[in-house]
Amino acid sequence: PVTVYKNSKAASLAVAARIANLIKEKQEKGEQAVLGLATGATPIQVYAELVRLHREDGLSFKNVITFNLDEYYPMQPDAAQSYVTFMNKHLFDHIDINRENIHIPDGRLNQSEIPAYCMEYERKISAIGGLDFQLLGIGRTGHIGFNEPGSAPNSGTRLVTLDDLTRRDASRDFGSKENVPTKAITMGIGTIFKAREIILMAWSEVKAEIVKKAVEGEMSSEVPATYLQLSDHVEFVLDEGAASELT
Ligand code: F6R
Repeated sequence: PVTVYKNSKAASLAVAARIANLIKEKQEKGEQAVLGLATGATPIQVYAELVRLHREDGLSFKNVITFNLDEYYPMQPDAAQSYVTFMNKHLFDHIDINRENIHIPDGRLNQSEIPAYCMEYERKISAIGGLDFQLLGIGRTGHIGFNEPGSAPNSGTRLVTLDDLTRRDASRDFGSKENVPTKAITMGIGTIFKAREIILMAWSEVKAEIVKKAVEGEMSSEVPATYLQLSDHVEFVLDEGAASELT
């Protein structure tokens, strides 16, 4: 299903409320909430609202376990552009989550260590019972996580090469395209698919064309987000701009 909100703020508040409800439901049952998280511009207002709910409503993250979708490779965790820095700045530094419950792919590994590391990332997600919830943005290539065109629907966590358009779009954070790493470690389409609830968010006209392809286009590895059409527990949460080309 597709839900269109007047603007990204209203949409983000609604998504944050759903995440907060999931966390509280799990708390009441004495269970952990396992969240798959995204970075980038799209989820910033969701994280801001979760921080507000923690500060003003006493929402606790003590029972929350997180797995981030991706990280650039190579990347030092303390670099300004790392997804570790992003998550600390927008969420983790402001809530009461246990640091050992946070998982973000490690951009410091030697290339030879990556396959075993990725298997272990998958194993950890499975061992904890799988993702209750996965938050997604969408890149203009149609990527989810960093699953660029050509990604297989059953792909797992792995090292990937970033598309040229993705690196151009990331140059806003790195100063120039040349400074953007050529690779990333990302959860696979298959990893994402196993989540029990998936929300893909997109804001503004800039995303309208790719959102139309993702929601209404023919399913194809050329637009990896089209695979989400196969799932009955995916919701596309859009603002009016991102929804403007849907029929
Ligand atoms: C980020 C991620 C990416 C972004 C996508 C959109 O962890 O996995 O798929 O969601 O590139 O980025 P923004 O939100 O910056 O437009």
